[in-house]
Amino acid sequence: MTKNLIKINNLSKSYKYRDSKLSILENIEFEVKEKQTISITGPSGIGKSTFLNIVGLLDSFNSGQYYFDEENVKKFNSQKKNIFRNKYIGFVHQFFYLIPELTILENVALPNMVKDNNKNKAYEYAQYLLETFMLKDRINFKPIYLSGGEQQRVAIARALINKPKIIIADEITGNLDEETADHVFNFFINEIEKNRQTLIYATHNIKYANRAKVKLELTQKSFKKL
Ligand SMILES: Nc1ncnc2c1ncn2[C@@H]1O[C@H](COP(=O)(O)OP(=O)(O)OP(=O)(O)O)[C@@H](O)[C@H]1O
Ligand SMILES: [Mg+2]
Repeated sequence: MTKNLIKINNLSKSYKYRDSKLSILENIEFEVKEKQTISITGPSGIGKSTFLNIVGLLDSFNSGQYYFDEENVKKFNSQKKNIFRNKYIGFVHQFFYLIPELTILENVALPNMVKDNNKNKAYEYAQYLLETFMLKDRINFKPIYLSGGEQQRVAIARALINKPKIIIADEITGNLDEETADHVFNFFINEIEKNRQTLIYATHNIKYANRAKVKLELTQKSFKKL
């Protein structure tokens, strides 16, 4: 039996708003096994990004249990969260957070340079990914000169470069036209399956959601299995 990479029980998340409590997630049950692909759908504002940020160790939660590779996340300090994120997770955010001073080639190569300190290798794979995402002519551009959809593709390439065990992707095709979105999504998921990685992604596109082995819908603060 494949072991659980992630196991979440009875998790709740709320925000404080002035004097009241704004409850976003309640009694969430969620598990991820190695090499699984999991899609999350649900209406805008329901809490998909909030949930992915919690899974990606970028946000805290109020109650419940979260075990990551059998370690209790509640006991993690921020340094340990950083270590786990760097070791396990590639995150593609809904908003891209590229480094404005660097070219897109440098943006994509950077995480690999930090990890392996081999510039040639990092640049070679970064270039391959960017070419695959149809950005060959843009590799020496700074992000500000790229369209939203182009920046999104750079962010996807950056998440793939280290071949992390887990990829968390938040609405990665939101800024793309249908043809480009199909191309990018198909390459993205094929690459992940080829590298035997685990993928958790939120999307508003049912066609892409259906590509996952496990399909979840976030409704009324918890998951429904589709
Ligand atoms: N820091 C915060 N303080 C208070 N409320 C917040 C905060 N961050 C998010 N929220 C609220 O949490 C809810 C869920 O937001 P979230 O971004 O997770 O939704 P989503 O499902 O990803 O939506 P979309 O499909 O539009 O991306 C929203 O109603 C939002 O207003
Ligand atoms: Mg979102």
